Amino acid sequence: MRGREKRCIFAYLNYDIPKNRKEIINLLITGLKRLEYRGYDSAGIAVDSANGNDINIIKKSGKVEALEQKILNDEEKLNFNAVVRLHVGIAHTRWATHGVPSEINSHPQRSDVQNLFCVVHNGIITNYKEVKAFLIRKGYIFESETDTEVIVKLAHHIYQQQITLCFREIIEQVVQQLEGAFALCFKSRIYPGECVATRRGSPLLVGIKTNTRLATDHVPVFYSKDHRRGNEFSIFSRYDTSEIEPLENKEIEYFFASDASAVIEHTNQVIFLEDDDVAAVKDGLLSIHRLKRSLDDSHAREITTLKMEIQQIMKGNFDSFMQKEIFEQPESVVNTMRGRVNFETGSIILGGIKDYIPEIRRCRRLMLIGCGTSYHSAIATRQLLEELTELPVMVELASDFLDRKTPVFRDDVCFFISQSGETADTLLALRYCKQHGALIVGITNTVGSSICRESHCGVHINAGPEIGVASTKAYTSQFISLVMFALVMSEDRISLLSRRSEIMEGLKILPECIRRVLKIDDTVQAIAQDLYQKKSLLIMGRGYNYATCMEGALKVKELTYLHSEGIMSGELKHGPLALIDKAMPIIMIVTRDPVYNKCMNALQQVTAREGRPIVVCEEGDTETKNIAWKTIEVPRIVDCLQGILTVIPMQLLSYHIAVLRGCNVDCPRNLAKSVTVE
Ligand code: UD1
Ligand code: MG
Repeated sequence: MRGREKRCIFAYLNYDIPKNRKEIINLLITGLKRLEYRGYDSAGIAVDSANGNDINIIKKSGKVEALEQKILNDEEKLNFNAVVRLHVGIAHTRWATHGVPSEINSHPQRSDVQNLFCVVHNGIITNYKEVKAFLIRKGYIFESETDTEVIVKLAHHIYQQQITLCFREIIEQVVQQLEGAFALCFKSRIYPGECVATRRGSPLLVGIKTNTRLATDHVPVFYSKDHRRGNEFSIFSRYDTSEIEPLENKEIEYFFASDASAVIEHTNQVIFLEDDDVAAVKDGLLSIHRLKRSLDDSHAREITTLKMEIQQIMKGNFDSFMQKEIFEQPESVVNTMRGRVNFETGSIILGGIKDYIPEIRRCRRLMLIGCGTSYHSAIATRQLLEELTELPVMVELASDFLDRKTPVFRDDVCFFISQSGETADTLLALRYCKQHGALIVGITNTVGSSICRESHCGVHINAGPEIGVASTKAYTSQFISLVMFALVMSEDRISLLSRRSEIMEGLKILPECIRRVLKIDDTVQAIAQDLYQKKSLLIMGRGYNYATCMEGALKVKELTYLHSEGIMSGELKHGPLALIDKAMPIIMIVTRDPVYNKCMNALQQVTAREGRPIVVCEEGDTETKNIAWKTIEVPRIVDCLQGILTVIPMQLLSYHIAVLRGCNVDCPRNLAKSVTVE
């Protein structure tokens, strides 16, 4: 199943804290708005009915504002002023995968007309057809086209089979029957004031807010004593619940969310749920349960204090998050190097992998695996890795790597690169390599993410939260992380001493060079004026700048919806040269590195066919300037870091073209920030 997920879950439970219904509904709506930047096509909430005996499900296709308006129109029915001390509200924004965007297909989905069970769901249930067929045989009538509806109907069925089960036990039985990836949050009319949430493959966290200090900094995990797994829907077992201990016993609020940015304004105390955790709140007490115990399972989930600052996730003076993130790069690259690169002694320590370096040095080859921009960061650093490690380096697109069932061995070291750390294709490739016994190294921006947890070791790129869907600062920080790794690998090689110090010097001046590149924003904007009405844009280069072409073309595609292609200029005469004429927009990257003469050659081939190339070149390179139609000049830096300085004009260019074309820069159509489905 291919698709891009942009769904978001937000749920709120207040226990022994009086809130009026308006406050609760506002909180749910605000939670959805915080996650809005991810894009979606419909939204919905479920709250108790005003008399407390039923559940109101309010859904709307379109923006969260449309939902908000619909709720305001229903003010009378919803009784905004009534105060409740105990309440569970669940909310969702949906991006259609099964069934068209519509009210009926939006979440919350319900079990039956009495709303006995309601659910919000991120991810995809891959065996929903089988479960649906089973439920239809049992007499259930489906109202939506979603895969999600089977989840609540199955809960209803299990409840009817075994009335004695508690809410959490019902959900445990439900998820045992589900295949695929999901994060789920349930509300039930039968169990008012209770909330059950679980995940497998999609992120989900629990935020906790109290006025008093929490009694503990962890929540114990309970394992069911009975490990039998029902393979028929009728075979279900009961679990012992006597072990549950309170975390806190009064005045507490819980938030369930697929992303920390929705809860940060309420609390910084969160628990990141692990796959197959079932979190339940009953009588204001949170407990976490697992059906099966495995050897390396921990007995508790830590309560993490989020360091994310609210202003950090806000746009500040910029028009969009993307623009802010592009201009943040002089600082974000410093954050990636902070505490790791010592410019005085010329040494680099990557704390997250230092214990594994001897093992990595003994490996047979390095594999770098990622998708999209993360994949490009691997292309950008491959040449340097080959040079400094003298190991074979394979660079792979996660999906293709999996399609090929690539041979992987115990003495391979596999790097998994992902900004979010949740990219489904990359995560699946990680699990595949882990099964084959390889050493797994993560390169992620998100502490506590799935890739971070499932890797043996890794490097956090520390670029700070990236909110724009099109990756910018994460790319340059991934790039630098891999360069630092290459330097670590070569630290005891006398023959590489001068090369290493040349690169260290480059890292030192990099922030200043980036600042200088950002100053040419106006030049780039003027070029965007020339290009924004065109239909296509070719970006050419080779060597260290090949990755810039690929990444530049990707940025143009995703932000501007223009056709764009990154072309290895060595390939020109093997086909792409046929595209060249005076009308075809072309960008060429030419810097004074080992392939400079070859690039000049390509440039001449293009101008000889009346092509009018815009050339990204080094400041003061008059030779290139004389041939180029227009130039974008960047400072000179050591060859292996030049790709960082040449990609930034591409980021700026795609940004300006997108703005001129009226595109939503932070939320390109059809795309999601973290692609948590295959
Ligand atoms: C760590 C601290 C940092 C502190 C520094 C002081 C964290 C997250 N980092 O940074 O706050 O300033 O020590 O020395 O607390 N990991 C993976 N997979 C990944 C990424 C990381 O398993 O994809 C693991 C690493 O192996 C390591 C841990 O996560 O065990 C932290 O990694 P990282 O933040 O890169 O380590 P340091 O740079 O040492
Ligand atoms: Mg790990």
